[in-house]
Amino acid sequence: MIWEGIFFSEVTKEVPDMMETDQRNGIDELPGIDSVTAQKLREAGYDSIGAIAVASPMELKGIAGISEGTALKIIRAARKIAFVDIFISAEEYMKKLQSVDKISTGSNSLDSILGGGIWTESITEVFGGHRSGRTQLAHALAVMVQLPKDEGGLRGSVIWIDTENTFNPHRIRQIAENRGLDPEEVLGHIYIGRAFNSNHQLLLIERAEDLIRENAKSDRPVRLLVVDSIPAHFRREYVGRRVLAERQQRLAEHLSNLHRISELYRVAVLITNDASMGRPWGGHLLEATSTFRLYLRKKGSGNSNRVVARLIKSPHLPENEAMFRITERGIED
Ligand SMILES: Nc1ncnc2c1ncn2[C@@H]1O[C@H](COP(=O)(O)OP(=O)(O)OP(=O)(O)O)[C@@H](O)[C@H]1O
Ligand SMILES: [Mg+2]
Repeated sequence: MIWEGIFFSEVTKEVPDMMETDQRNGIDELPGIDSVTAQKLREAGYDSIGAIAVASPMELKGIAGISEGTALKIIRAARKIAFVDIFISAEEYMKKLQSVDKISTGSNSLDSILGGGIWTESITEVFGGHRSGRTQLAHALAVMVQLPKDEGGLRGSVIWIDTENTFNPHRIRQIAENRGLDPEEVLGHIYIGRAFNSNHQLLLIERAEDLIRENAKSDRPVRLLVVDSIPAHFRREYVGRRVLAERQQRLAEHLSNLHRISELYRVAVLITNDASMGRPWGGHLLEATSTFRLYLRKKGSGNSNRVVARLIKSPHLPENEAMFRITERGIED
């Protein structure tokens, strides 16, 4: 089945809005929002107080045709409602961190340096050179996230934005079979969007958010969003210093959307990035946006299946190194 011509797979359509029943609903009640503004915001996907609380004044201004001052007033009011408990005790904070869902990678050693696996509500950037195992790690996770919780997964679905045409359903099938899952069912819960250029890549993220929202209350909500790779189109389209500022601006928009999705819908966002001489592409912007940064490099000769992963950025974990193998089960120690 084709999902509005962009994502290919089966989608549960009868799901209501994820925030329908909680306090972050009712954007009409915010001061400064009349029914026309509310309608415009809803159509653009800003249909809960939570979504408005994390929006920027410029975004709302552009969508609703209101002044920046009004937008700021609306956002402030939304924040008051959405973030009642801004300060929490360190004890509560620790409990909160422990309760964040993680997806096992399949390798105990990699899970261990990540504090339990790939974190939801975060952006994990995996960078490395050619053939370093980035796409393979993403394939492994697209299956692992579908496992039950006691086996390291979250019974989640996956959205995969493919910019290099490297998503491989045969590889998914192989990993699923070797993990004791029904390969057809696993493939049925991965929604692929192929991005043909950087504008399309940004559009796909918008549509991904609609799909995530629609699916949020199903028994298989989207818990993993892969963008493999972030830089491919940007590198090709924006060449030279003259267009650097414009490129970074578009990239910032892209990353900010990914960030919002990860937090609002408790999704693990996995992005892959290039590296040259051990330095990731994208400069300070990517460095600042990624919650976790993982540097992959092949161990041994070109056709070795062993990969060294180095965690070089995390909000609360030390820099550390792990080794894993790429196998028929995805990745393993
Ligand atoms: N089914 C498989 N079993 C074991 N190893 C595999 C399998 N498929 C691919 N590999 C190995 O994975 C490596 C390639 O990794 P991957 O495609 O993830 O690289 P990458 O970092 O995404 O780089 P690029 O995008 O530049 O190709 C190769 O060394 C290949 O041998
Ligand atoms: Mg790749």
